[in-house]
Amino acid sequence: MTIQIDSLETSTKKIIYSDKCKDILSLSVAEIQELFKSSGILLFRGFGVTHEQMKAFSKQFSSRFTRETNRTRVDSREGFVSLVAQGTHFIEPHCENANTPFRPDAVWFCCGVPPAQGGETLFCDGVQVWEQLSEESKQLFLSKKIRFDFIYSAEQWKHFLGAEATLANVKQMLEGLEGVSYFINEDESVSFAYACPAVIKTKYSNQDAFANNILNAKESVFFENGSPIPDTIISEIEEVTDRLTEEIQWQVGDLVMIDNSRFLHGRRSFSDNQRLIFSIFSYLNF
Ligand SMILES: [Fe+2]
Repeated sequence: MTIQIDSLETSTKKIIYSDKCKDILSLSVAEIQELFKSSGILLFRGFGVTHEQMKAFSKQFSSRFTRETNRTRVDSREGFVSLVAQGTHFIEPHCENANTPFRPDAVWFCCGVPPAQGGETLFCDGVQVWEQLSEESKQLFLSKKIRFDFIYSAEQWKHFLGAEATLANVKQMLEGLEGVSYFINEDESVSFAYACPAVIKTKYSNQDAFANNILNAKESVFFENGSPIPDTIISEIEEVTDRLTEEIQWQVGDLVMIDNSRFLHGRRSFSDNQRLIFSIFSYLNF
């Protein structure tokens, strides 16, 4: 295993290169776990990873996989490998599903076809974001939770729970969850509010991380009492996040493993129709 630590960048990202297109499944699970705990984001390059291999590799580190509400699925049998979010637009840095109580521990991406131009995956360390926010903003987010308000259509919750799911399953899933309140509408869509802290403890280092979905869901995020988050605060978060954001310029067969309790991810816009990135979301077993 060859590990390069990219010292030109500000983050803790580590790149693991394969010498001779080695099988990624031959890597030491224990070593990868330790590297992941300390760095929070690992890029595996030169292993020629396919989405089937990503599934097999991620399985070694995961207790279970989760689905998304709106992504195209690739593996028809289980439905846990998806294409990344559709469209070619810029996606603001965010933590996956952090606007719901179903935030996965890890986000996995692999590259089938790189974009011709643009389309880099962005990432940003929430620990660094928290360190660089102003004292006023920190005090605000320490004293107040944030709240996300969404409506999930029947189609969306069926995509998440499985095609046979019923409203009884929805109730069963949401009942008693901390921070959740919901209302089932006549058309079977679900109005849903989720209150949570904007700053959380990282899974492995117990550090404060500004790891949330504020920037990616600006129209649907409020403080818990329903008051808006002031524009000046949003601008400050954008400015700090921007400054700390780095990018992955995809090569065919790259695999990225991201700690979703610490790192935010996003994507630059692109204009071609060849970009093919696969994703998996999972809960970790270590
Ligand atoms: Fe995402």
